[in-house]
Amino acid sequence: MCKPDNIVILTGAGISAESGVATFRAADGLWEGHKVEAVATPEGFAADPALVHAFYDARRARLDEVVPNAAHEALALLDAEWPGELLIVTQNVDDLHERAGAQRLVHMHGELLKAWCLACDSRVPWTGSMSEAAICPACAAPGRLRPDIVWFGEMPYDMDRIEAALRNADLFVSIGTSGAVYPAAGYVQTAKYCGAHTVEINLEPSQGSIFFDEVRLGKAGVEVPKWVEEMLA
Ligand code: OAD
Repeated sequence: MCKPDNIVILTGAGISAESGVATFRAADGLWEGHKVEAVATPEGFAADPALVHAFYDARRARLDEVVPNAAHEALALLDAEWPGELLIVTQNVDDLHERAGAQRLVHMHGELLKAWCLACDSRVPWTGSMSEAAICPACAAPGRLRPDIVWFGEMPYDMDRIEAALRNADLFVSIGTSGAVYPAAGYVQTAKYCGAHTVEINLEPSQGSIFFDEVRLGKAGVEVPKWVEEMLA
């Protein structure tokens, strides 16, 4: 293909796996030990907020123990050096892309390091644990904070910006995602329909693998730096 101008990169849990962050659907994945409805739906939160807070508190605390890997660093380098449009759309709620230095980034499924106040609708930075009694730093309401995570049945963030970038993309690259969760799983088809070349980088073929023009199988920590080097050559 000709050198592209505009790139959209979708990332999933697989890009953080080599940093030591659990993926969702592996045999030892995050969903194995939990009922998804209990910890990742608004109904689960209403039924047992203490359980949901404990689940996300543990994941937030884990962030202190992990660091970005070569794949996050390579994407941050591409972001810094790519002269055309570029958008990294991550489904991940960790902060490893930004810690590596990525700037053109959206967290479509929210962020562990933010709280959402159901009283005043503010989204505020949050570290440490978030109890049921936690007080909103913006409006001082007690007991109305929840993790700023997009749960099942909720609308992902930045949909308009993502759709516009996909329609404008010459190249769409999907990294470390199983293609099991929509709307992200459908982005390859949107980009392809709008004329983009599509590349998948994953340990194994994803559920939407047939929609990719090119599939590169292997670890993100190896394959992503290789791909970025080709792009910047
Ligand atoms: P999954 O756990 O479904 O998929 C992770 C993918 O990464 C799998 O296809 C693995 O083969 C691949 N993988 C694992 N290790 C890898 C490595 N070192 N290098 C490259 N690939 C590797 O995670 P996601 O696709 O991100 O949403 O899951 C999508 C969404 O499902 C998540 O954002 C989450 C979950 O429900 C919400 O919580 C809203």
